[in-house]
Order: sequence, then structure tokens, then C-alpha cells
Amino acid sequence: MKGIVLAGGTGTRLHPITISVSKQLLPVGDKPMIYYPLSVLMAAGVQEILVITRPTDQPLFRTLLGDGAHLGLDISYAEQPQPRGIAEALLLGADHIGDDSVALILGDNIFHGPSFSRLLQREADQVDGATLFGYRVQDPERYGVGVTDADGRLLAIEEKPARPRSNRAITGLYLYDNEVVDIAKNIQPSARGELEISDVNAEYLRRGRAKLVDLGRGFAWLDTGTFESLVQAGQYVRTLEERQGVRIACLEELALRMGFIDADACHALGAAMPNSDYGRYVMNVARELTGDVEYLPAG
Ligand code: G1P
Repeated sequence: MKGIVLAGGTGTRLHPITISVSKQLLPVGDKPMIYYPLSVLMAAGVQEILVITRPTDQPLFRTLLGDGAHLGLDISYAEQPQPRGIAEALLLGADHIGDDSVALILGDNIFHGPSFSRLLQREADQVDGATLFGYRVQDPERYGVGVTDADGRLLAIEEKPARPRSNRAITGLYLYDNEVVDIAKNIQPSARGELEISDVNAEYLRRGRAKLVDLGRGFAWLDTGTFESLVQAGQYVRTLEERQGVRIACLEELALRMGFIDADACHALGAAMPNSDYGRYVMNVARELTGDVEYLPAG
């Protein structure tokens, strides 16, 4: 399975912060926002990842992530000159997808919950059609919404409906089989001039090949679209991290735990950031695995 992170867009709701800096590079807790969606792809076992950005932002993402080899990844880049919709990522990423399946994730979506990695790996392994992830929200009119029957089977998908028929938002993580490239090529721009991901999903549904996996109430799917929600996401992450002394979306740790890199390589990545708590955490994670420390000090 290939991965795509869509990190384009103008982030106008966060102006003036995002006038000069890409939203997906802003801090959430003590790491850049894009670490969170990247960690989701890595936890699913995906290593070949295309990062799509505005042309002007691409050098900054390259500085941050490089070619991904240090994390055992293969990261490549594509430009989205205008924000023409999420589904455009599938067209820009068609060569990258090739004849494989794909996990597409939005660069500003934060997922965190128990056993998420196991769920992701299971769903990624058996993807057949489209696998979408639903999450109950108070304000479904802001999202793509999935209408389900009593058994949780998907009946309809609506993009930002004025009068939602369900409170099940469809989150910004989409698993597709290879048919998605053809489907994306054939959808038409919506009234707002965008290639809507909900139209891709609705086409899968029409073919009887879309399923919705509910993320349940113990799960966190966080928004970072407004300043308020950005701050709240950071607070959520820090609260858990400080309480437990473990980090969410620490890419070096995840690369180690997934077997993409070994403990020495992980330690070296931490040692390159010796002045930050994050860097020291990465070194400790590597040492813990080799038995040099018995527990991970907080921070
Ligand atoms: C997009 C999608 C929507 C989805 C949401 C998830 O909306 O169009 O279906 O629920 O992402 O974050 P946007 O946030 O781009 O308005």
C-alpha cells in the first residue's frame, strides 16, 4: 500500500499565522502537525509516501522530512498549485499509486486512540473498495457525513449537508484499492469548483464497495482548522504526554517500533537534537529497547 499526505491549502482560517508558513508545519504539542498524519501511515505499515504541498512550501517540507530514508521511509513530493479539492491528490498521486492500493490522509487530521495501529494494519491489509473511518461529532454540517443503517452499513455520503441526517463525520483518512485512480479521473468539480473526496466515496458506495469503520467514543479525532481547535489539539497531546511520559506521533520511535530502523539509528536521530526534550526522548526510546534504561523519564 502507498501513502499520500495532502498538505496543501491556504489555511485562511488561521491567518495571519499561515500567511508565510504552511498550516501543516505549525506546532501541535512539540512537533510539527504533519508528524501526526505521517505517524498514522507509518502505523499502518506504509513506507512509500507522497507529500503534496503548495509549491512555495515544498522546500520547507523537504528540509523537515528529506527523502525519509532516516526513518526507513521513501518520501517523495508533489505540488498542488491551487487548492482544487482533496480528490485532486489522487490525480497528482496517480503515478505514485501505480497499480497499488493507497492510504490518503489529510495533513491536518490528528488521530489517537487505543489499538489504532492494529485496526489500521488490519484494514490496510484487507482493503477492497473504499474503507472510510467515521467519528461522532457535534457539528456534522462541517464535514463529509456518512448515513448508516442500524447495523452500521453505509447508505449515503453527503458533503457538508445543511441538514445532516447523521452525526457521523467521515474523517480525513481514506483507504482505497487501485480503482480509485479511475474513479477520481471521472468525477466532476462541485459547485465550489473542487474535486470532492465525498464524490469519490459516493461512487464507491454506488458500486457497493464502500465501508465505514466507526472509531468509537474512546477515540480522539482532532481538528486543527481554527486557532481554538489548534490550541486544544496541542493541549490534548501535551496532557497525555506529560501524564504518561510517552509521546504521540514521535516518528523516530514509531520507525523503531515498526522495524523500519534499528535502535542505533533511532538513537542517532535523537542525538542530533540533544538540546530538545524531544531529542532526549528519542535517545531514551532507543536505549529502552536495548535495555539501557528501565523506564522513560517524562519530557
Ligand atoms: C474535508 C472533506 C470532508 C472531511 C474533512 C475531514 O473537508 O471534504 O469530507 O470530513 O475534510 O477533515 P475540509 O476540512 O477540507 O473542509
